Amino acid sequence: MKKWMTDKLICPQCLDAEIPLDLTARETQGDDIIDGEMTCPQCKAIYPIEQGVAVLLPEKTRDILSDHGGYNAPGMLSAYLWSHFGDLLDDPKATQAYQVWSAGFTPTHGDALDVGCAVGRLSFDLAATHDHVIGLDTSIAFIRKAREILTQKEISFDLIVEGHITEPRTYCFDESQDFTNVDFIVADALALPFRERAFATTAAINLLEKVPDPLKHLREINRVMRDHSAMFLFSDPFSWDEAVSPPERWLSGNGNAQYSARGIDTMRRLFAGEFGVFDPPLGIAEDGNVAWKIRKTENLWEHITSQYLIGRRE
Ligand SMILES: C[S@@+](CC[C@H](N)C(=O)[O-])C[C@H]1O[C@@H](n2cnc3c(N)ncnc32)[C@H](O)[C@@H]1O
Repeated sequence: MKKWMTDKLICPQCLDAEIPLDLTARETQGDDIIDGEMTCPQCKAIYPIEQGVAVLLPEKTRDILSDHGGYNAPGMLSAYLWSHFGDLLDDPKATQAYQVWSAGFTPTHGDALDVGCAVGRLSFDLAATHDHVIGLDTSIAFIRKAREILTQKEISFDLIVEGHITEPRTYCFDESQDFTNVDFIVADALALPFRERAFATTAAINLLEKVPDPLKHLREINRVMRDHSAMFLFSDPFSWDEAVSPPERWLSGNGNAQYSARGIDTMRRLFAGEFGVFDPPLGIAEDGNVAWKIRKTENLWEHITSQYLIGRRE
């Protein structure tokens, strides 16, 4: 964990009180804390830093660390590394999705937060225009890999062809590329370990449908977003799944008369301030559809249309 991160973090279990954490660094390398822990002086929770990865999860959600399936499964790394960096690898089947999502980033005085960052592509894209960029995700496998890319300036992985047949893929960032202002942590979108109004830019790509409480996730985005000169990049396919969130919490597609039938319409109403989630409201600066692909094997693909909105506060 980069040393500059220390002053930005608060205890995710004591969000209302915004309690800064006490750091014990046992091993450091340059500006990186490799081994240590952070402790909350109020609730006494301990947040470990191991092999450079800080885990800021509330104690009740830490079980996810020992889950070797889901987004921690080895096949997911191949799939997401290809999806995030396929264009840099010059793969003719790659999409231009991140170029579309990143097109609205402009030089900004302030920090950016990429919530549910997976292996980090959008965070790397945000680095060019923001003071500091923090990517966070509940998948420790994804965050380890994102930090490896950051420290090595190299993307290197085995792309799954079929079964155990893989092909090596490597991309080296230019040595002059500066990622000192980027870092990745394990944290929960439903308990962001940051103070109110800390970020100029927030992004949540393809995350809304993946969290058990979508509205709480959006309230957390609003809590950490500045109330002026701020932007929220939102995108989602709205492919709700009962295994992730109960239908009564879906923001569309569940027959609930208070929401619109389609998720993008509910999101427009949320951005405009309806339901009291975004306060102050967000003006919609841009919207559209992004074609995105996940490559599971050479013969197995998921084609996704992700609907995006860029919301701004002047
Ligand atoms: C569909 S992927 C999208 C990832 C990335 N934003 C992208 O566009 O490729 C959903 C991501 O959200 C992460 N995730 C799921 N629940 C989360 C939570 N409660 N907090 C933070 N990340 C979460 C998953 O580990 C996964 O990396």
